[in-house]
Amino acid sequence: MLRSAVRVPDHGKRVPFRFVRIEGDARDALGERLVARTLARDPEAAPAALDKDRKRFSHAPLVIVVVAVLDADDTAIPEVERLLTAGCVCFALLQAAQAMGFGASWLTGWPAFDEAVLDVLGLGAQERIAGFIHIGTPRIEAPERERPDPASLLTDWRAP
Ligand SMILES: Cc1cc2nc3c(=O)[nH]c(=O)nc-3n(C[C@H](O)[C@H](O)[C@H](O)COP(=O)(O)O)c2cc1C
Repeated sequence: MLRSAVRVPDHGKRVPFRFVRIEGDARDALGERLVARTLARDPEAAPAALDKDRKRFSHAPLVIVVVAVLDADDTAIPEVERLLTAGCVCFALLQAAQAMGFGASWLTGWPAFDEAVLDVLGLGAQERIAGFIHIGTPRIEAPERERPDPASLLTDWRAP
């Protein structure tokens, strides 16, 4: 799966990404850290919110964190392009997992943007979460959602 995931367009061969695996006991341990963080931010947090955080990383047996590694000194390749590469990694990982018969979901939520959580996950100052890819055995068929009509998104450019 990871071999497929790293096979992405990557301007300048920067490899602006890495993976962190969360599985087994680590999933619940991270959930407890999220609960602590939520309580630190809001001691009155609702029990339902705390429960959601506790289970956030325990729905699937495996979560792969796709970390975007964004070197601020790299002025040759725009940062947005390196971030897009990390996004491609998330999508490639999703597709690889699904092609192998697993269910996979690309999620973020507040933990992806919280400094303290990024610290707990071991991210450096120049790193961001591109996605948490949750991977497991599908129990139900994923509900379909409305998709955009590509024709409505297409225009022709003509010389003004
Ligand atoms: C960067 C990114 C972050 C996402 N984060 C969430 C999330 O936190 N929660 C959520 O329900 N869906 C999130 N989604 C959407 C799901 O990945 C997915 O598109 C949605 O559940 C519908 O699945 P489908 O597109 O396979 O039908 C995110 C998508 C992207 C691209």
